[in-house]
Amino acid sequence: MGKILVVGNWKMHLNASQASLLLHRLQERIPIYKDVEVVLSPSMLTLQPLSVQLDRRKFRLAAQNAYFVDEGPFTGGVSFAMLRELVHYVIIGHSERRRVFGEDLEMIKQKIGACVRNDITPILCVGETKHEREQGETKQVLHDQLLSGLANLTPSEVADMVIAYEPVWAISDGTNFTDHFIAKPQQVAEAVDYIRRYVRDVFNDKASREVRILYGGSVVPEIVQGFLDVPGVDGFLVGGASLNYHTFSAIVQASHSWQRGSEEEHA
Ligand code: PGA
Repeated sequence: MGKILVVGNWKMHLNASQASLLLHRLQERIPIYKDVEVVLSPSMLTLQPLSVQLDRRKFRLAAQNAYFVDEGPFTGGVSFAMLRELVHYVIIGHSERRRVFGEDLEMIKQKIGACVRNDITPILCVGETKHEREQGETKQVLHDQLLSGLANLTPSEVADMVIAYEPVWAISDGTNFTDHFIAKPQQVAEAVDYIRRYVRDVFNDKASREVRILYGGSVVPEIVQGFLDVPGVDGFLVGGASLNYHTFSAIVQASHSWQRGSEEEHA
């Protein structure tokens, strides 16, 4: 297995000085790991100052959103073209963007295209709502989100990207991420298997093996090792728990320990 990928999505939290303080604390606590890639996704406002403060041996940056046109009369927009020197990744199609900001499948497709065109790696979020799961529509929802999201990509672009499986019902409200909300490893296994099979059928074996798939939804340090045991899971998209330097560094640490354990097993 390659590096584990841990992405902290700070959502709409922390002003510039609070974000700088959190980064400072994380840099104190998290050593340089060769087997875990740690990505921080602060608000658009703080990407620039954090990029100056960031220890690039330890962290990379992701934006939480961008607009698909490179420049023009789009008041309030920030484009992928503007972000290309600043970030490695952009999160695209997060359920909060889909639900609160009304982003539809077509817009998300355009954003993935703009992201790749600007040499930024997309983190495409997919996942079903509680209602959709109860109606037995999980696979259909994943199918539709993958069909549109990956529509214009080549197999090698898919191989290089990241897909985050985030069941909407498992995403915390930012304060309560107890295990009450967390998906079961078996449910994650089924969804991840479906995503890899889709990529294999539509693209090729290599893309299916190499595309990195994250689990997101109420991730806390205690579940890290159990979820890394799920076949095909390469890491986590962490929301609420990434705002606290104790819990986020514990998630990174647990990922590193799991990697070491699995290396010893295969030695
Ligand atoms: P959560 O958020 O970890 O707070 O559930 C995950 C996400 O929305 O990316």
